[in-house]
Amino acid sequence: MQVDVLLGMQWGDEGKGKIVDVLTPKYDVIARFQGGPNAGHTLEFDGQKFVLHTIPSGIFHEGKMNLIGNGVVIDPVTLRKEINNLINQKVPYTERLLISKKAHLILPTHRLLDAASEAAKGKDKIGSTLKGIGPTYMDKTGRNGLRIGDIETSDFKEKYASLRDKHIQMIERLDFPIEGLEAMEEEWMSAIEFIKTVPFVNSEYYINNALKEGKRILAEGAQGSLLDIDFGSYPFVTSSNTICAGACTGLGIAPNKIGDVYGIFKAYCTRVGSGPFPTELDNEIGQKLRDIGHEYGATTGRPRRCGWLDMVALKYAVMLNGVTKLIMTKADVLNTFNEIEVCDAYQVGGDTTTELPYDHSDPTLKTKTITMAGWNQELSATETLPKTLEDYISYIEAETECPISIVSLGPDRTQTLVRDLQSA
Ligand code: GDP
Ligand code: IMO
Ligand code: MG
Repeated sequence: MQVDVLLGMQWGDEGKGKIVDVLTPKYDVIARFQGGPNAGHTLEFDGQKFVLHTIPSGIFHEGKMNLIGNGVVIDPVTLRKEINNLINQKVPYTERLLISKKAHLILPTHRLLDAASEAAKGKDKIGSTLKGIGPTYMDKTGRNGLRIGDIETSDFKEKYASLRDKHIQMIERLDFPIEGLEAMEEEWMSAIEFIKTVPFVNSEYYINNALKEGKRILAEGAQGSLLDIDFGSYPFVTSSNTICAGACTGLGIAPNKIGDVYGIFKAYCTRVGSGPFPTELDNEIGQKLRDIGHEYGATTGRPRRCGWLDMVALKYAVMLNGVTKLIMTKADVLNTFNEIEVCDAYQVGGDTTTELPYDHSDPTLKTKTITMAGWNQELSATETLPKTLEDYISYIEAETECPISIVSLGPDRTQTLVRDLQSA
């Protein structure tokens, strides 16, 4: 068996949570491989809406295992809140959820460090979600981090205190106020006790044994390819590898075990936080997309910046991830547009290019767009798609050389048109 991977092609919020939930019946195990509570994955079914930050999006399905992989960074306080929501829904989480012993812990002081670092950057700030993601990955690569497995060691509290003290010195050096730390620590320690109710596992063995037993596994990405630490619009990126390669390091699976790669993208683009966004529409069209698409962050509530589909960026993401099947979401948000624009090339320093330049923020960068007819009608997952939408789909398929296997037409589980999941 192989591990299929689902990940975002843009700047996050492409609808990963919804689609993982839709695909879960085809799998036995759903595994998150990177990121942390900076993610907000929304699921809607039976008139209810759920937002998951750390827990994989297969959790609502009976008989499926959900693994938080070693590549994920975990804030026990957020995780406890998520689990409490599951308890309210009578989801038997102890039977469906596993945590990797090698996943790193986000400390309260990591969150303070995130805020201190952003404050120090001033107008150049990243626009981080301030969940402590960057500082936690820094401690991971700096070989100072605390991991889930450490919770079970006798000197956990001492290890915690030593790292916290190091952080306090750093925060003081940044001249950032440390307020309410004691209460945060108390809450954190009680959340640590609580999450012990979830089995901690050697997840690399779990995943590889599951593969041997013929189990079907879906790896769920967080963020999007343009927020990747190596290939995103650095420094306006997150702190992990969001691309397909991250599924190998974030779960302990070998590259030759990767099967299908689902690349999910919106029929237009959004971005939350700072950084380059060539097709951004800072005008009434952008506002229309934001209003109809309810484009406000699932984690921070911030308004998302909106713009047209960027084929240069989409093709880059298809290339980096080896995408075998594309999934287009939020097509319904364009239902009332007479015309749709698509960026098919950039002009940088007077030259036309279809490659992402080294500096995505290059001040000379201009977009070249083509205009396509809109479909101007309501869409339903049970009816044939209008020709104008089929033309839009065919254009994207031809440009990316990749089939669009699913078209999502609304936030609910049922508002999903599966075109062809077999062909790749
Ligand atoms: P994720 O981070 O990739 O899981 O995406 P988010 O949950 O942050 O943002 C996607 C938003 O769009 C959520 O509010 C979803 O409920 C919603 N959504 C997902 N698919 C569709 C769709 O096809 N149409 C519409 N209108 N909304 C969608
Ligand atoms: P999901 O999984 C959209 C953005 C932040 C900021 C940058 C760095 O829901 O798609 P960080 O907190 O990681 O230091 O922030 O990355 N960002 C996201 N944007 N969706 C996300 O996750 C994001 N996770 C981080 O807004 O610009
Ligand atoms: Mg999101």
